[in-house]
Amino acid sequence: MKAYNILLLGSGGRENALAWKFSQSKYCNQLFIAPGNAGTNQYGTNVALSLTDFAAIKEFCLSHEIGLVLPGGEDALVAGIYDFFQKDTQLQSIIVAGPSQQGAQLEGSKAFAKQFMQRHQIPTAAYREFDNATFDEGIAYLKQHPLPVVIKADGLAAGKGVIIAQTTEEALDSFSKMIRDAQFGDAGKKVVVEEFLTGIELSVFILTDGTNWVLLPEAKDYKRIGEGDTGLNTGGMGAISPVPFADASFMSKVREQIAKPTIEGLKSEQIVYKGFVFLGLINVNGNPFVIEYNCRMGDPETEVVMPRLKNDLVELIDAMWNERLDEITIQSDERAAATVMLVSGGYPNDYLKGKKMSGLQQVNDSILFHAGTLANNQEVLTNGGRVIAISSLAPTLKEALEMSYRNAERVDFDNKYFRKDIGYEFL
Ligand code: AMP
Ligand code: GLY
Repeated sequence: MKAYNILLLGSGGRENALAWKFSQSKYCNQLFIAPGNAGTNQYGTNVALSLTDFAAIKEFCLSHEIGLVLPGGEDALVAGIYDFFQKDTQLQSIIVAGPSQQGAQLEGSKAFAKQFMQRHQIPTAAYREFDNATFDEGIAYLKQHPLPVVIKADGLAAGKGVIIAQTTEEALDSFSKMIRDAQFGDAGKKVVVEEFLTGIELSVFILTDGTNWVLLPEAKDYKRIGEGDTGLNTGGMGAISPVPFADASFMSKVREQIAKPTIEGLKSEQIVYKGFVFLGLINVNGNPFVIEYNCRMGDPETEVVMPRLKNDLVELIDAMWNERLDEITIQSDERAAATVMLVSGGYPNDYLKGKKMSGLQQVNDSILFHAGTLANNQEVLTNGGRVIAISSLAPTLKEALEMSYRNAERVDFDNKYFRKDIGYEFL
């Protein structure tokens, strides 16, 4: 196998963890991160490229002899970066580690994902979809629906398009705001109304070459801003891996009832998919149900999955591209991983940027994965809501969390906030 020049697209903690992992591979020649952050430049070169400016990405790939592109997030994939490369004779042989635009619809359209799951008998919440033409039917449906009820904008809405309505009034209000008032623009023209499922969520990651597939270590993220899973939804405040309740019996259900029919379903419908499938699952009385699909790795889950993954990431992606994943066995570190996200006070609402960070050099035993940071001469400044993820590996979850929390006290910036209860249900 040959070594590659790699272009990684994105600038979050996920991309920092991927850059860290790539940099350990003997098959990683030069690594470029676009646009990256103040942490990714330890592992490669940050370059200023817009994630959906495919013409500029093309030019960069050709001039830097890039052989592998990994889009960290969904935007470039949903915008069709895979198809753009495949249609261009100069770019065709470059690996784009992610699905075709059609495959990315598993994340890009909740209605597409629900219909797909229905066609392939994949367990998920019961649902109906509505649009402007069926608005009145939707209102009637919501009026008789048990509570709580879940209302989802069909398209990408930066994690804000899901409403869990506790009252019928709130449900009707959210529903009309999406369809009639275009609260989420085109993303909410179509709406999925679904049954509320009760259970604990977890994230499972498939890597597929279109036929064969492997599972990476599973993880659990903590989405709410407040301790005890209260308050607003965020991009994720921390994560752990492994997930204690994801034992052999549960994971065998995930493989048989969800992963297998998902990959077989994509193949039978001739949907080109070589990349990561993120299964957002919920454990309902010991049975996994799909809450959502994403077409990429999770953030902050990647910050615990990469430290536990023993395989070489470039080798995995090369095997995926060449349809040889049947030859791969995933090897995971037996230790537990935990990550704690430090965020800017105010997040996920308004917050300030440009705050000077200190204490980064005082961190030991943990890995710092920068998220919203910016290098400014010799200083590191905050540059986002989620600022930095502190990941640790230890024999037990408790010890891994203690290591991350010890270091969370050392890193400092104005208005720093973090949840102090990551992993609480398992301690
Ligand atoms: P999504 O963007 O589809 O992942 O939804 C965001 C969050 O809303 C999920 O992580 C769940 O916590 C919650 N959620 C979505 N759908 C359901 C459902 N059917 N039942 C219970 N909670 C849900
Ligand atoms: N942590 C959830 C996500 O990446 O969508």
